[in-house]
Amino acid sequence: MKSTLAICLLAALPYIQAAPTFPRAPVVSKRQGTDPNPPLHGSKDLLGYSPNNKLTEQTTEDIVYTLAVGQKEDADLGVYLDFTNVENPQPIRGSKGGTDPGPRTTEFDRLNSDKLAPPGTDHGQTINANWPMSLSKAKLGLDGAGWSRQENVVVMPGATKMAGVDMRLEAHGYRELHWHEAGEWSLVLNGSCRIQAVNEDGETFIDDVTEGDVWFFPPGVPHSIQALDVGVEFLLVFDDGSFSEDNTFLASEIFAHNPKSVLSKNFDLPISAFDNIPDGELFIFPGTPAPTDIAAQNKSTAEGPIERDLTYSYHFSEQPAHIVPGGSVKIVDPQNFPAASNFAAAIVTVKPGAMREIHWHPTSDEWSFFIRGQGRATLIEAPSTATTFDFHPGDVGYFPMSHSHYIENTGDEDLVLLEVLQADHFSDISLGQWLGSTDKQIVGDTLKLPESALNHLNSEKQFVVAAPTNLNDTQA
Ligand SMILES: *[C@@H]1O[C@H](CO)[C@@H](O)[C@H](O)[C@H]1NC(C)=O
Ligand SMILES: *[C@@H]1O[C@H](CO)[C@@H](O)[C@H](O)[C@H]1NC(C)=O
Ligand SMILES: *[C@@H]1O[C@H](CO)[C@@H](O)[C@H](O)[C@H]1NC(C)=O
Repeated sequence: MKSTLAICLLAALPYIQAAPTFPRAPVVSKRQGTDPNPPLHGSKDLLGYSPNNKLTEQTTEDIVYTLAVGQKEDADLGVYLDFTNVENPQPIRGSKGGTDPGPRTTEFDRLNSDKLAPPGTDHGQTINANWPMSLSKAKLGLDGAGWSRQENVVVMPGATKMAGVDMRLEAHGYRELHWHEAGEWSLVLNGSCRIQAVNEDGETFIDDVTEGDVWFFPPGVPHSIQALDVGVEFLLVFDDGSFSEDNTFLASEIFAHNPKSVLSKNFDLPISAFDNIPDGELFIFPGTPAPTDIAAQNKSTAEGPIERDLTYSYHFSEQPAHIVPGGSVKIVDPQNFPAASNFAAAIVTVKPGAMREIHWHPTSDEWSFFIRGQGRATLIEAPSTATTFDFHPGDVGYFPMSHSHYIENTGDEDLVLLEVLQADHFSDISLGQWLGSTDKQIVGDTLKLPESALNHLNSEKQFVVAAPTNLNDTQA
């Protein structure tokens, strides 16, 4: 370790290293040599080869680093690499790659080993299937009432069929009265809120929803959302990848941009009634506390409430999860929540080491959201392009229709994620079930699996396969 000290200095003070060596030390021309502040452009003497050109003597070959568990194993084994506590993580996998002297953002590299040292089985360039909401700019609500962050085709160009918004309302905060062209499906992530709407037939809807519940507002149906005393955070999923929360129809804007004479006629009110209307959007703003008794805000109309079968909320938090080998799954789709006629969703829990099995959705793209724990997925595009993505809480995932993927729990706590499809029922095709249901002569001829493996294939869909956290335990 002859130059460990020098290397440490390099790591700590990259600018000191950079200044004298890049760009190459200029040849001192007579004019530049005498000028205390050199001009913006250098001399034409610097063009091309000259015996006077100086090269750096600083070597990039003695970088100090450590490797993660599994990093030197065969690249095609492709185990998840945990760089959290690795000193100076490097783009090395098996016998491939090399060191990176920089410039780079080590914090990103530490968090995203999928990018720095992908499995050897990755190939070419797929769409980007991961967007951390942490990289979306927060839209801040008025007077501390909340915020929102969105994912759409602007940041994830391949996610064309669905977009999402993560929204926070502090206690009593409102997402103002509004509507939009897209259908809005929502999962409450934390806290509780009161939601309310009126449909095109004049039928009304009101409900209080809490963590784990879902709601749906059809296109064009105007609605409002107000946090109850405990505050709320919820996820919105829209059936249009180009949806933007900056382009919704807001009550405030409808009033601000209709002539006051028209408002006066419309509501049969004097012009002065509109003296104090907001002059622009409120979007997210503080409110007065909603009455505890929901009946106090339940407006009855001649048309009455929306019939129970077509109501806009489903108390999914109270639906118990179905246990599967490596975790659990529960589904909400039009079979139990008919109003959301084209939204089929599943909450999947994957135990440490376990994996949402390799599968694809035959009729829809999948928009997913990572709620707890950490995981990774490999997206395969036909015929041979593949990218592995690491996911953390707050990340959006996107897997186009019929594209193969799995979700592996790469952490030591349960992974909880939401999968949302545009479909009238939740469906997927399991690679395991397909091959387990195909005659073993056909599978054997194709994949050259040993007889013991062919006998082990299972025709039952697993959803989540159980597996030990340490790969070596499987091989033992
Ligand atoms: C498997 O075990 C070997 C020997 O104990 C170890 O070097 C290797 O890192 C382990 N691999 C994984 C992926 O845990
Ligand atoms: C909701 O937020 C509170 C406050 O941060 C936190 O303690 C709790 O774990 C959150 N619940 C969930 C389900 O994330
Ligand atoms: C609102 O009132 C209607 C009757 O007009 C009733 O059917 C419905 O259950 C009420 N909703 C709530 C949340 O109280």
